[in-house]
Amino acid sequence: MRCFKGLCSQWIWGWALLEIVAAASFTPLLPPSYPLAVRSPYLSSWLPGNQAANLPSSSPQFWYGNNLTWSVIARVDGQAYSLFGVPDSLEGIQAATVTGGNYTSTHSIFTLTAGSKSFTLDFLSPVSPTNLVRQSLPFSYLTVSVNGGSRNESVQIYSDIDSSWTGRPDSAAWEFSKINTTSVFQLNPVGEAIFSENAQEQALWGETVYATRASHGDTLSSASGPLSAIRSQFIAKGSLADTHANWTSDGVVAFTHELGTVAGDTSVTFAIGHVREQAINYLGNAQTAYYRAIYPNTTSAVSHFLDDYVEAADEATKMDTLIQKGGESSYGTNYSDILALSLRQIYGGMELTIPDDTLDTQDARAFIKEISSDGNINTVDVIYASFPIFYALSPDYIRLLLRPIFEYMDNKNYTEDYAVHDIGTHYPNATGHNPKGEIMPVEESGNILIMAYAYELATNKTDISSTYSSLLTKSAQYLEAHGKYPEAQLSLNDALGKIANQTNLAMKAASGLASYGQMTSQANYTNAGKSLADALYNGRLGTDPNGTYFTIQYGSNSWFLVYNHYADVLFSLDLFPEEAYNATTAFYPTVRKPAGVALDADINWGQTNWQGFVAATVTGEARDMFIADMHAYIANGLNGVPFSDRYWVKSNTAGTAGEFFSFRARPALGSHYALMALQGANQWSLAI
Ligand SMILES: *[C@@H]1O[C@H](CO)[C@@H](O)[C@H](O)[C@H]1NC(C)=O
Ligand SMILES: *[C@@H]1O[C@H](CO)[C@@H](O)[C@H](O)[C@H]1NC(C)=O
Ligand SMILES: *[C@@H]1O[C@H](CO)[C@@H](O)[C@H](O)[C@H]1NC(C)=O
Ligand SMILES: *[C@@H]1O[C@H](CO)[C@@H](O)[C@H](O)[C@H]1NC(C)=O
Ligand SMILES: *[C@@H]1O[C@H](CO)[C@@H](O)[C@H](O)[C@H]1NC(C)=O
Ligand SMILES: *[C@@H]1O[C@H](CO)[C@@H](O)[C@H](O)[C@H]1NC(C)=O
Ligand SMILES: *[C@@H]1O[C@H](CO)[C@@H](O)[C@H](O)[C@H]1NC(C)=O
Ligand SMILES: *[C@@H]1O[C@H](CO)[C@@H](O)[C@H](O)[C@H]1NC(C)=O
Ligand SMILES: *[C@@H]1O[C@H](CO)[C@@H](O)[C@H](O)[C@H]1NC(C)=O
Ligand SMILES: *[C@@H]1O[C@H](CO)[C@@H](O)[C@H](O)[C@H]1NC(C)=O
Ligand SMILES: *[C@@H]1O[C@H](CO)[C@@H](O)[C@H](O)[C@H]1NC(C)=O
Ligand SMILES: *[C@@H]1O[C@H](CO)[C@@H](O)[C@H](O)[C@H]1NC(C)=O
Repeated sequence: MRCFKGLCSQWIWGWALLEIVAAASFTPLLPPSYPLAVRSPYLSSWLPGNQAANLPSSSPQFWYGNNLTWSVIARVDGQAYSLFGVPDSLEGIQAATVTGGNYTSTHSIFTLTAGSKSFTLDFLSPVSPTNLVRQSLPFSYLTVSVNGGSRNESVQIYSDIDSSWTGRPDSAAWEFSKINTTSVFQLNPVGEAIFSENAQEQALWGETVYATRASHGDTLSSASGPLSAIRSQFIAKGSLADTHANWTSDGVVAFTHELGTVAGDTSVTFAIGHVREQAINYLGNAQTAYYRAIYPNTTSAVSHFLDDYVEAADEATKMDTLIQKGGESSYGTNYSDILALSLRQIYGGMELTIPDDTLDTQDARAFIKEISSDGNINTVDVIYASFPIFYALSPDYIRLLLRPIFEYMDNKNYTEDYAVHDIGTHYPNATGHNPKGEIMPVEESGNILIMAYAYELATNKTDISSTYSSLLTKSAQYLEAHGKYPEAQLSLNDALGKIANQTNLAMKAASGLASYGQMTSQANYTNAGKSLADALYNGRLGTDPNGTYFTIQYGSNSWFLVYNHYADVLFSLDLFPEEAYNATTAFYPTVRKPAGVALDADINWGQTNWQGFVAATVTGEARDMFIADMHAYIANGLNGVPFSDRYWVKSNTAGTAGEFFSFRARPALGSHYALMALQGANQWSLAI
């Protein structure tokens, strides 16, 4: 069959028949990149959307962009077909035909045909934010299903990976073991360097795991050795020799499931993972993953993970339904498409831990990596950029993420009277804020107050405000003293540099003060927030003289896409008057550039996370515009990287409108959920 742009012609019975084969269809849209196995900053593999139509010869990538070897080959009645990840052709193999792909909040699914069979590759990365054991297991599922149709032909399914997953592709080692029915390969970098990363930010310690087990009466075999020899073995025989050669630089570890003759539907499931016993370096104490309290070693953990498949998949279906329905009911399917694409990236940028020595599950924490922007750990404003999703789905995450920050600030070494920016320059070293690192005094002080209140409101608990009372008071007092006229300083848009009297920062101060006042029942703080908001809008301190838009800086005539009054809307704080909301609703559509609204008047890029916040504060056509632009951006086919929250809204010398601008895979997408969060806290707990 010869194909050109999805049109394929075939010679049948000597007649030239032009058979119009529908091009593969990708629903709900073809994203910049499909999450394949996205569970932690070190288990983060993706398929660029522009490779999906060529899935058989595609190369999956680590979030950074480096290729990973991960293949699936099937054999139907003796003929081998590449289904996924076989860029170099081998003798005796044909490419299967891709018929479609789709994604939900937890699955990326591709369908292909090969011979008389159709195959489905289902990449499932569970997001289980209230089941901390399930959420902390650093593995993902790949399920390959075959639909037998009416013909009884024998089918075998093969899959392999290599040391590109280890951080030291040129110097690794591997082991094979069997525990009960589960076969497990464990791949390690040689000369592990604990808590260190390679240039692509892959972990230089810990192990990559590939595991599977026979089920439904199939026969499992395995092998390790040179890629071409192992794949050729499968292509020729449909099975592997169960011989396990030591690592070589051209080597793979591989499994084969012999399914026998397949008439109905059948499937096999693989688990891929990356395990670090000592996961995070937290102020000198190693933290390990939460699940280790129950599954103390890798083989028991991966074996449990495979046991858990049916329940995890069932829970994932409930999550998909919630995100689909919750997104649609808050703003239609364009909105739910954005939410579904964001979910795995957000939770996959964090890890849930307990101390490695005590394994005490009462002593849990969460850590988040500022992936791709600078690698900082538990950056307060990155947590802020995601807090709406925590409020809506898993408010306890706010406590788990803020806890290490409060503990660090409680330490006598942190003496500033404002909240810290981060607790370490580079994940996984949460060893303290570098005194020469970034500081954002008003930004972070406001953030911790808003987030502490979000947590307490969503859970009815008061443990943050009681345990960290003096730290919160300090931040509130800082805002009281510095929130109205913020000195020249960075805001979380650090690319803008240090600017004095930033309107958006003062709006954060107003929101932070009022949040603190409500949380601690101190009306004077709530009133301080209100009078600051009053000065900003009614007093025109932070607007143009007519109050038609908010400015970047007091006295400037440049507008800014302000979003720091989102808390006013979410918590009904009654800070800014309706007139202010009407003004932004009317104004932003007038300054839209070809691909969306920029962050401010003078630049050509915008950020989807701030647009997500603003979509929830404006109404009517302005809200339509923000959601439509975000949707158009993820569907425009111009990008091949994990969801970038920053993109060009207007073409310029550095990029084309609709192209991403350097960030990728950041877990800072939770504010896409800002609209859905307006429907209430704890939606996930209420749904299950
Ligand atoms: C990565 O994979 C792509 C697609 O197969 C290929 O074009 C590219 O050369 C590979 N890059 C490296 C560094 O091997
Ligand atoms: C996604 O693909 C799977 C497998 O083909 C199919 O069962 C499911 O209905 C599809 N979902 C959507 C939303 O297209
Ligand atoms: C973490 O700290 C250790 C010890 O100082 C260092 O060797 C390692 O490179 C650091 N990791 C990163 C990712 O910076
Ligand atoms: C792999 O290397 C180990 C250690 O050098 C050696 O003991 C073992 O025999 C080797 N295995 C094979 C299959 O070559
Ligand atoms: C792993 O943990 C299981 C369950 O506790 C235990 O039975 C097994 O011996 C352990 N395996 C190793 C290699 O330590
Ligand atoms: C292996 O099987 C034994 C006996 O059924 C069971 O006790 C043990 O927990 C299993 N190990 C794992 C890791 O599942
Ligand atoms: C606090 O500072 C002291 C002295 O510089 C240092 O030894 C200690 O490790 C620091 N503690 C933390 C938690 O950073
Ligand atoms: C919190 O308390 C309010 C009022 O008592 C109640 O309506 C709500 O369901 C509670 N929320 C939770 C998560 O317990
Ligand atoms: C901030 O704005 C106030 C009021 O407009 C002004 O007095 C003050 O000089 C400004 N601060 C800076 C650092 O520009
Ligand atoms: C609010 O009242 C408390 C207690 O009287 C006081 O300590 C605090 O400084 C006041 N804060 C503000 C912003 O007025
Ligand atoms: C402000 O409003 C006044 C009265 O409506 C109008 O004359 C003036 O043009 C407006 N100024 C700007 C900058 O829009
Ligand atoms: C804000 O806009 C709404 C809808 O157009 C309108 O009903 C309302 O009166 C406006 N409020 C103010 C204060 O202008």
